[in-house]
Amino acid sequence: MSDKRDITLTVNNRSYSIRVEPRRTLVDAIREDCGQTGTHIGCEHGVCGACTVLVDGAPVRACLMFAVQAANKEIRTVEGLGSVDNLNPLQRAFMEHHALQCGFCTPGFLMLVTGVLEREPDIGDDELIDVLASNLCRCTGYQNIIKAVRAVAHDMRQARSNASA
Ligand code: FES
Ligand code: FES
Repeated sequence: MSDKRDITLTVNNRSYSIRVEPRRTLVDAIREDCGQTGTHIGCEHGVCGACTVLVDGAPVRACLMFAVQAANKEIRTVEGLGSVDNLNPLQRAFMEHHALQCGFCTPGFLMLVTGVLEREPDIGDDELIDVLASNLCRCTGYQNIIKAVRAVAHDMRQARSNASA
């Protein structure tokens, strides 16, 4: 008898009815069962952050969560941020500040930062560095990632203060 479960994953507002073993990781389900391959797999044990997605708004390492745990929750991946023709501000900042080289780590950084800035829009520069230190990049040396994220955080603060002026 199969011990597979029928679950629904909601990824970027689209529902996927899938059948998975209880041990299937969320990242495998997103990539292989939902076909959303923008989320990358690096270490597969919670260290690198390449697989970071948002689950109900919180950054989660999708290699450490089972797909069944994410059933009926709101999952957001890099595909939901913007498109090649219409990058969102964070994606544009990564491009403008040369915050990627091979790009393998980039989806994880984008989702990590998106989740943090949505929850803590007034986060300070030092705290941002602490956040970014939780994901690994083997190419950039981090300086340009920090520049890109600081620029977006600054623009968001500016937009809020202009709106409340
Ligand atoms: S692949 Fe999930 S943290 Fe590295
Ligand atoms: S840009 Fe290559 S690992 Fe980060």
